[in-house]
Amino acid sequence: MTQVVFITGASSGIGRATALAFVKAGYHVAGTARRAERLSELQSEISALSTSQGEFLPITGDVTHAESIVSAVAQTVEHFGQLDILVANAGVGQRGVMVDAEWEDLETLLRTNIDGVLHSIRACVPEMRKQGGGHIITISSVAYNLVSPYAATYAASKAFVSSIANSIRIEVTKDNIKVSDFLVGRTETEFNENRLGGSIKRSKSVPTMTADTVAEAIVKVVKKPKNTVILRFFDRLLVLGNRLVPGIIGKLAARQYQ
Ligand SMILES: NC(=O)c1ccc[n+]([C@@H]2O[C@H](COP(=O)([O-])OP(=O)(O)OC[C@H]3O[C@@H](n4cnc5c(N)ncnc54)[C@H](OP(=O)(O)O)[C@@H]3O)[C@@H](O)[C@H]2O)c1
Repeated sequence: MTQVVFITGASSGIGRATALAFVKAGYHVAGTARRAERLSELQSEISALSTSQGEFLPITGDVTHAESIVSAVAQTVEHFGQLDILVANAGVGQRGVMVDAEWEDLETLLRTNIDGVLHSIRACVPEMRKQGGGHIITISSVAYNLVSPYAATYAASKAFVSSIANSIRIEVTKDNIKVSDFLVGRTETEFNENRLGGSIKRSKSVPTMTADTVAEAIVKVVKKPKNTVILRFFDRLLVLGNRLVPGIIGKLAARQYQ
Protein backbone atom coordinates (compact mmCIF):
# COMPACT_ATOMS: atom_id res chain seq x y z
CA MET A 1 0.00 0.00 0.00
CA THR A 2 1.39 3.42 -0.97
CA GLN A 3 2.22 5.48 2.11
CA VAL A 4 0.68 8.95 2.49
CA VAL A 5 2.61 12.01 3.69
CA PHE A 6 0.95 15.17 5.06
CA ILE A 7 3.25 18.22 4.78
CA THR A 8 2.55 21.66 6.24
CA GLY A 9 4.14 24.64 4.48
CA ALA A 10 4.41 22.85 1.11
CA SER A 11 4.19 26.03 -0.97
CA SER A 12 7.89 26.93 -0.76
CA GLY A 13 11.35 26.04 0.52
CA ILE A 14 11.88 22.87 2.52
CA GLY A 15 8.19 21.84 2.48
CA ARG A 16 7.96 22.14 -1.30
CA ALA A 17 11.23 20.27 -1.86
CA THR A 18 10.08 17.56 0.57
CA ALA A 19 6.76 17.16 -1.26
CA LEU A 20 8.64 16.68 -4.54
CA ALA A 21 11.14 14.28 -3.00
CA PHE A 22 8.41 12.07 -1.48
CA VAL A 23 6.38 12.03 -4.71
CA LYS A 24 9.49 11.06 -6.70
CA ALA A 25 10.13 8.31 -4.14
CA GLY A 26 6.64 6.90 -4.82
CA TYR A 27 4.71 8.25 -1.82
CA HIS A 28 1.38 10.06 -2.07
CA VAL A 29 1.59 13.57 -0.64
CA ALA A 30 -0.98 16.04 0.69
CA GLY A 31 0.59 19.50 0.92
CA THR A 32 -0.97 22.37 2.77
CA ALA A 33 -0.16 26.11 2.93
CA ARG A 34 -2.02 29.40 2.62
CA ARG A 35 -0.89 30.27 -0.93
CA ALA A 36 -3.17 28.15 -3.13
CA GLU A 37 -1.54 29.35 -6.37
CA ARG A 38 1.88 28.10 -5.23
CA LEU A 39 0.39 24.70 -4.40
CA SER A 40 -1.24 24.57 -7.86
CA GLU A 41 2.12 25.36 -9.49
CA LEU A 42 3.68 22.49 -7.54
CA GLN A 43 0.85 20.18 -8.60
CA SER A 44 1.46 21.10 -12.27
CA GLU A 45 5.19 20.48 -11.87
CA ILE A 46 4.50 17.08 -10.33
CA SER A 47 1.96 16.13 -13.00
CA ALA A 48 4.60 16.89 -15.66
CA LEU A 49 7.15 14.51 -14.11
CA SER A 50 7.90 11.60 -16.38
CA THR A 51 9.14 9.12 -13.79
CA SER A 52 6.81 6.79 -11.88
CA GLN A 53 5.62 8.70 -8.86
CA GLY A 54 3.03 9.25 -6.17
CA GLU A 55 0.14 11.67 -6.38
CA PHE A 56 0.12 15.23 -4.96
CA LEU A 57 -3.00 16.67 -3.36
CA PRO A 58 -2.90 20.45 -2.75
CA ILE A 59 -4.99 21.67 0.19
CA THR A 60 -5.18 25.33 1.14
CA GLY A 61 -4.87 25.65 4.90
CA ASP A 62 -3.54 27.72 7.77
CA VAL A 63 -1.69 25.94 10.59
CA THR A 64 -2.61 28.67 13.08
CA HIS A 65 -6.24 27.49 12.96
CA ALA A 66 -6.90 24.03 14.38
CA GLU A 67 -10.09 23.60 12.34
CA SER A 68 -8.21 24.36 9.10
CA ILE A 69 -5.69 21.59 9.78
CA VAL A 70 -8.35 19.14 11.00
CA SER A 71 -10.18 19.78 7.72
CA ALA A 72 -6.97 19.32 5.67
CA VAL A 73 -6.29 16.01 7.39
CA ALA A 74 -9.89 14.89 6.76
CA GLN A 75 -9.53 15.77 3.06
CA THR A 76 -6.27 13.82 2.91
CA VAL A 77 -7.82 10.70 4.43
CA GLU A 78 -10.94 11.02 2.28
CA HIS A 79 -8.79 11.23 -0.86
CA PHE A 80 -6.04 8.69 -0.11
CA GLY A 81 -7.76 6.52 2.51
CA GLN A 82 -4.96 6.92 5.07
CA LEU A 83 -2.26 9.17 6.53
CA ASP A 84 1.08 7.65 7.54
CA ILE A 85 3.63 10.45 7.86
CA LEU A 86 3.41 14.05 9.09
CA VAL A 87 6.08 16.61 8.23
CA ALA A 88 5.31 19.53 10.57
CA ASN A 89 7.32 22.05 8.60
CA ALA A 90 5.39 25.34 8.31
CA GLY A 91 7.25 28.06 10.17
CA VAL A 92 8.34 31.65 10.13
CA GLY A 93 11.38 33.55 11.43
CA GLN A 94 11.64 36.83 13.31
CA ARG A 95 14.45 39.19 14.20
CA GLY A 96 14.92 42.15 16.48
CA VAL A 97 15.12 43.06 20.14
CA MET A 98 12.38 40.97 21.75
CA VAL A 99 11.10 43.77 23.97
CA ASP A 100 10.87 46.25 21.09
CA ALA A 101 9.29 43.89 18.52
CA GLU A 102 5.74 44.39 17.32
CA TRP A 103 3.50 42.12 19.39
CA GLU A 104 1.68 41.22 16.18
CA ASP A 105 4.92 39.74 14.80
CA LEU A 106 5.66 37.77 17.96
CA GLU A 107 2.10 36.49 18.07
CA THR A 108 2.26 35.39 14.42
CA LEU A 109 5.52 33.59 15.14
CA LEU A 110 4.17 31.82 18.22
CA ARG A 111 0.90 30.88 16.56
CA THR A 112 2.69 29.50 13.49
CA ASN A 113 5.71 27.77 15.03
CA ILE A 114 4.08 26.56 18.26
CA ASP A 115 0.29 26.36 17.79
CA GLY A 116 0.80 25.21 14.19
CA VAL A 117 2.95 22.25 15.21
CA LEU A 118 0.55 21.27 18.00
CA HIS A 119 -2.48 21.52 15.70
CA SER A 120 -0.72 19.41 13.06
CA ILE A 121 0.36 16.66 15.45
CA ARG A 122 -3.02 16.60 17.25
CA ALA A 123 -4.88 16.33 13.92
CA CYS A 124 -2.66 13.59 12.43
CA VAL A 125 -2.04 11.23 15.36
CA PRO A 126 -5.68 9.98 15.60
CA GLU A 127 -5.45 8.91 11.91
CA MET A 128 -2.10 7.19 12.51
CA ARG A 129 -3.58 5.38 15.53
CA LYS A 130 -6.49 4.11 13.42
CA GLN A 131 -4.10 2.40 11.04
CA GLY A 132 -1.74 1.11 13.70
CA GLY A 133 1.27 3.38 13.34
CA GLY A 134 2.98 6.32 11.69
CA HIS A 135 5.87 8.76 11.73
CA ILE A 136 5.94 12.39 12.89
CA ILE A 137 8.77 14.56 11.56
CA THR A 138 9.20 17.95 13.20
CA ILE A 139 11.22 20.71 11.55
CA SER A 140 13.06 22.50 14.31
CA SER A 141 16.24 24.53 14.00
CA VAL A 142 19.78 24.24 15.17
CA ALA A 143 19.04 27.68 16.72
CA TYR A 144 16.82 26.02 19.33
CA ASN A 145 19.91 25.03 21.21
CA LEU A 146 21.92 28.21 20.73
CA VAL A 147 22.13 31.49 22.57
CA SER A 148 20.25 33.55 19.96
CA PRO A 149 20.16 37.28 20.65
CA TYR A 150 17.92 39.20 18.21
CA ALA A 151 16.26 35.93 17.21
CA ALA A 152 15.27 35.02 20.77
CA THR A 153 11.58 34.31 20.24
CA TYR A 154 12.26 32.27 17.10
CA ALA A 155 14.91 30.17 18.88
CA ALA A 156 12.58 29.68 21.85
CA SER A 157 9.75 28.60 19.53
CA LYS A 158 12.05 25.94 18.05
CA ALA A 159 13.10 24.85 21.56
CA PHE A 160 9.38 24.25 22.11
CA VAL A 161 9.16 22.15 18.94
CA SER A 162 12.16 19.99 19.88
CA SER A 163 10.97 19.61 23.46
CA ILE A 164 7.52 18.48 22.32
CA ALA A 165 9.09 16.04 19.85
CA ASN A 166 11.36 14.51 22.49
CA SER A 167 8.58 14.11 25.07
CA ILE A 168 5.70 12.90 22.89
CA ARG A 169 8.03 10.34 21.31
CA ILE A 170 7.54 8.29 24.49
CA GLU A 171 3.78 8.99 24.65
CA VAL A 172 3.14 7.67 21.12
CA THR A 173 5.49 4.68 21.19
CA LYS A 174 2.59 2.47 22.29
CA ASP A 175 0.72 3.59 19.13
CA ASN A 176 3.69 2.46 17.00
CA ILE A 177 4.33 6.07 15.97
CA LYS A 178 7.92 7.27 15.56
CA VAL A 179 9.05 10.87 16.08
CA SER A 180 12.08 12.39 14.31
CA ASP A 181 13.17 15.93 15.10
CA PHE A 182 15.23 17.79 12.47
CA LEU A 183 17.58 20.49 13.73
CA VAL A 184 17.94 22.34 10.45
CA GLY A 185 20.78 24.77 9.78
CA ARG A 186 20.84 27.63 7.32
CA THR A 187 19.02 26.66 4.13
CA GLU A 188 18.44 28.62 0.93
CA THR A 189 14.66 29.27 0.88
CA GLU A 190 12.29 32.23 1.20
CA PHE A 191 12.68 32.04 4.98
CA ASN A 192 15.01 35.06 5.25
CA GLU A 193 12.83 37.23 2.96
CA ASN A 194 9.74 36.31 4.98
CA ARG A 195 11.42 36.93 8.34
CA LEU A 196 9.16 39.10 10.53
CA GLY A 197 10.97 42.26 11.61
CA GLY A 198 13.06 42.21 8.40
CA SER A 199 15.55 40.00 6.61
CA ILE A 200 19.20 39.76 7.67
CA LYS A 201 22.30 40.23 5.57
CA ARG A 202 23.51 36.65 5.59
CA SER A 203 27.19 36.25 6.39
CA LYS A 204 29.15 34.10 3.91
CA SER A 205 31.00 32.46 6.82
CA VAL A 206 27.87 30.41 7.63
CA PRO A 207 27.41 27.69 4.97
CA THR A 208 24.01 27.34 3.32
CA MET A 209 22.29 24.08 2.35
CA THR A 210 19.74 23.61 -0.40
CA ALA A 211 16.15 22.69 0.44
CA ASP A 212 16.70 19.51 -1.62
CA THR A 213 19.43 18.38 0.78
CA VAL A 214 17.04 18.70 3.73
CA ALA A 215 14.23 17.03 1.74
CA GLU A 216 16.38 14.02 0.83
CA ALA A 217 17.31 13.56 4.51
CA ILE A 218 13.62 13.71 5.50
CA VAL A 219 12.73 10.95 2.99
CA LYS A 220 15.70 8.92 4.26
CA VAL A 221 14.66 9.17 7.93
CA VAL A 222 11.33 7.53 7.09
CA LYS A 223 13.21 4.48 5.82
CA LYS A 224 15.78 4.54 8.64
CA PRO A 225 14.18 6.31 11.64
CA LYS A 226 16.31 8.44 13.96
CA ASN A 227 15.23 10.52 16.95
CA THR A 228 17.26 13.62 16.12
CA VAL A 229 18.84 14.68 12.86
CA ILE A 230 21.50 17.38 12.53
CA LEU A 231 22.52 17.36 8.91
CA ARG A 232 25.85 19.09 8.90
CA PHE A 233 29.16 18.94 10.72
CA PHE A 234 29.09 22.78 10.91
CA ASP A 235 25.79 22.69 12.84
CA ARG A 236 27.06 19.96 15.20
CA LEU A 237 30.06 22.19 15.88
CA LEU A 238 27.72 25.11 16.66
CA VAL A 239 25.76 22.99 19.15
CA LEU A 240 29.00 21.80 20.80
CA GLY A 241 30.41 25.35 20.81
CA ASN A 242 27.25 26.60 22.48
CA ARG A 243 27.73 24.06 25.27
CA LEU A 244 31.39 24.97 25.79
CA VAL A 245 31.47 28.72 25.09
CA PRO A 246 27.90 30.06 24.96
CA GLY A 247 29.11 33.67 25.28
CA ILE A 248 31.10 33.45 22.05
CA ILE A 249 28.25 31.78 20.16
CA GLY A 250 25.91 34.50 21.45
CA LYS A 251 28.24 37.24 20.18
CA LEU A 252 28.50 35.58 16.76
CA ALA A 253 24.70 35.24 16.60
CA ALA A 254 24.29 38.90 17.58
CA ARG A 255 26.47 39.90 14.61
CA GLN A 256 24.20 37.92 12.27
CA TYR A 257 20.83 39.12 13.48
CA GLN A 258 21.39 42.65 14.81
N1 LIG B 1 15.65 28.25 5.86
C1 LIG B 1 16.38 28.13 6.97
O1 LIG B 1 17.54 28.63 7.04
C2 LIG B 1 15.85 27.34 8.13
C3 LIG B 1 16.73 27.01 9.17
C4 LIG B 1 16.23 26.28 10.25
C5 LIG B 1 14.92 25.89 10.29
N2 LIG B 1 14.07 26.25 9.26
C6 LIG B 1 12.67 25.84 9.36
O2 LIG B 1 12.26 25.20 8.18
C7 LIG B 1 10.83 25.32 8.04
C8 LIG B 1 10.49 25.68 6.59
O3 LIG B 1 11.01 26.97 6.31
P1 LIG B 1 11.66 27.34 4.90
O4 LIG B 1 13.09 27.63 5.15
O5 LIG B 1 11.29 26.36 3.88
O6 LIG B 1 10.95 28.77 4.64
P2 LIG B 1 9.87 29.26 3.56
O7 LIG B 1 10.38 29.03 2.19
O8 LIG B 1 9.51 30.66 3.97
O9 LIG B 1 8.63 28.28 3.81
C9 LIG B 1 7.75 28.42 4.89
C10 LIG B 1 6.49 27.64 4.60
O10 LIG B 1 5.61 27.75 5.73
C11 LIG B 1 4.32 28.08 5.26
N3 LIG B 1 3.55 28.80 6.27
C12 LIG B 1 3.90 29.91 6.97
N4 LIG B 1 2.88 30.29 7.76
C13 LIG B 1 1.88 29.39 7.57
C14 LIG B 1 0.57 29.24 8.09
N5 LIG B 1 0.07 30.11 8.98
N6 LIG B 1 -0.18 28.19 7.68
C15 LIG B 1 0.31 27.30 6.77
N7 LIG B 1 1.54 27.40 6.24
C16 LIG B 1 2.31 28.43 6.63
C17 LIG B 1 4.56 28.92 4.01
O11 LIG B 1 3.43 28.84 3.15
P3 LIG B 1 2.32 30.00 2.92
O12 LIG B 1 2.99 31.32 3.10
O13 LIG B 1 1.86 29.75 1.52
O14 LIG B 1 1.26 29.72 3.93
C18 LIG B 1 5.73 28.18 3.40
O15 LIG B 1 5.28 27.11 2.61
C19 LIG B 1 10.40 26.36 9.08
O16 LIG B 1 9.81 25.72 10.19
C20 LIG B 1 11.71 27.01 9.50
O17 LIG B 1 11.66 27.52 10.82
C21 LIG B 1 14.51 26.96 8.19
